[in-house]
Amino acid sequence: MDITFLLNGETVALSGVSPTTTLLDWLREERHLTGTKEGCNEGDCGACTVMVTDAEGARALNACILFLPQLHGKAVRTVEGIAGPDGALHPVQQAMIDLHGSQCGFCTPGFVVSMATAHLNGARDHDDQLAGNLCRCTGYAPIVRAAEAAADAPVPDWMRDAAPGGAAQPFLPASSDALAAIYAAHPEATLVAGATDVGLWVTKQLRDLEPVIFLGRCADLKRIEISEERVRIGAMVDMNALWQAMRKLHPSYGEMIRRYASVQVRGAATVGGNIANGSPIGDNPPALIALGASLHLRKGDARREIALEEFFLEYGKQDRSPGEFVEAVSFARQPDRLRCYKLSKRFDQDISAVCGCFNIAVEDGTVTEARIAFGGMAGIPKRAAHVEAALVGRPWDAATVAAAQAEFDADFTPMSDMRASARYRQETARAMLMRCFEEDRGAPVSVLEVSA
Ligand SMILES: Cc1cc2nc3c(=O)[nH]c(=O)nc-3n(C[C@H](O)[C@H](O)[C@H](O)COP(=O)(O)OP(=O)(O)OC[C@H]3O[C@@H](n4cnc5c(N)ncnc54)[C@H](O)[C@@H]3O)c2cc1C
Ligand code: FES
Ligand code: FES
Repeated sequence: MDITFLLNGETVALSGVSPTTTLLDWLREERHLTGTKEGCNEGDCGACTVMVTDAEGARALNACILFLPQLHGKAVRTVEGIAGPDGALHPVQQAMIDLHGSQCGFCTPGFVVSMATAHLNGARDHDDQLAGNLCRCTGYAPIVRAAEAAADAPVPDWMRDAAPGGAAQPFLPASSDALAAIYAAHPEATLVAGATDVGLWVTKQLRDLEPVIFLGRCADLKRIEISEERVRIGAMVDMNALWQAMRKLHPSYGEMIRRYASVQVRGAATVGGNIANGSPIGDNPPALIALGASLHLRKGDARREIALEEFFLEYGKQDRSPGEFVEAVSFARQPDRLRCYKLSKRFDQDISAVCGCFNIAVEDGTVTEARIAFGGMAGIPKRAAHVEAALVGRPWDAATVAAAQAEFDADFTPMSDMRASARYRQETARAMLMRCFEEDRGAPVSVLEVSA
């Protein structure tokens, strides 16, 4: 592949690029820009954070799971490009020095790039912005203090990159029509959306994926359309954009997405990828199934729409044929009743052990409708049909909830793994139903809201 991008303000043109070369490897091995560190090589630690600017703005991303072709037409800034051309320090760098934000220094370049990107974007939710950067010796207090201290400083001119665009290429389609044509012609190809799964197939499993089709330039797949009747989310909408939309429509869903991995992973991971990978522990499918979502699939010029829950056939198997891709997911506008509970070992930057999503309608004290879906309880994201049946038509009270809790055994036979035991999963799923009931009654149920 032939690609062009800006690196720290200078044009780079590469030809014959292997599609699965990661930016991290290329920076360190070909450019000797070794400020960008390799920690985990799987998107968890943020040591490799770079800033990437395109038409939508600047975002922090993990270079270890970012393939070079994903940068075509964009601008990249590494830690070497955060200080000015004359060596002037960026305000976040000066603040890190002044407030003692670095000890061994291994994590520091990644922190500085995350902080400089947040500073550019005017983001002041420092804890969220830095949740994807791990520091094992300094501790976060001095680093957050540095971010706070730099927040009001003007953005240095050199940080404002303009993405150069870039010529269209067959395996870098710029629209869903072009994608449909190239994928129909190469149904054996691997689709790469945000690469937050596929990246690990390369860095950890050393898999050969060619041919590869990159979806990142399909602008029409990045739209969120909200009408009076429906919400339609394009397959290439990333988690940060989804969070912003959902925090208004369905705040509990938005809050769950806030805890989806880290700002770097959310800036890459897409709704389409989170569905198409068929993972039983993806966070979006349970919420979307509870909302009654439809999945929009396309193969060549043929399109079909199915209920999202029908897409997941069994573990590792989805209702998608070769050459067919996810175009969008949509659901009806509805009053917000959705409650999403994500249970993971760590609060931030962790994949769910159990994720329960509840959409329960109550009229005059009686449950009229219930859509409940879980991740982490089966080989696929799955509805709790028996639990739903035990609720509908009954009074929304503690006795009904207790009776419905007994039905979880009929719906799920979860497994034990490193995230949770089967028994723990069953117990916490039951507890989530109780939590939903209590939250509906106005009881404080979030650990974040408990105060002494
Ligand atoms: C550090 C880290 C933390 C994570 N934390 C979470 C978390 O908290 N919650 C969670 O749910 N997940 C998490 N994940 C998993 C990952 O982010 C998701 O599964 C993600 O949504 C995948 O989307 P992507 O765009 O990166 O997909 P990719 O990695 O690009 O693709 C994933 C799969 O989907 C296919 N695909 C992608 N788009 C399409 C499409 N439009 N049509 C058809 N097939 C397609 C690809 O071919 C591939 O098989 C985490 C991953 C990492 C690395
Ligand atoms: S090296 Fe850890 S996130 Fe990239
Ligand atoms: S300063 Fe040592 S890991 Fe952060």
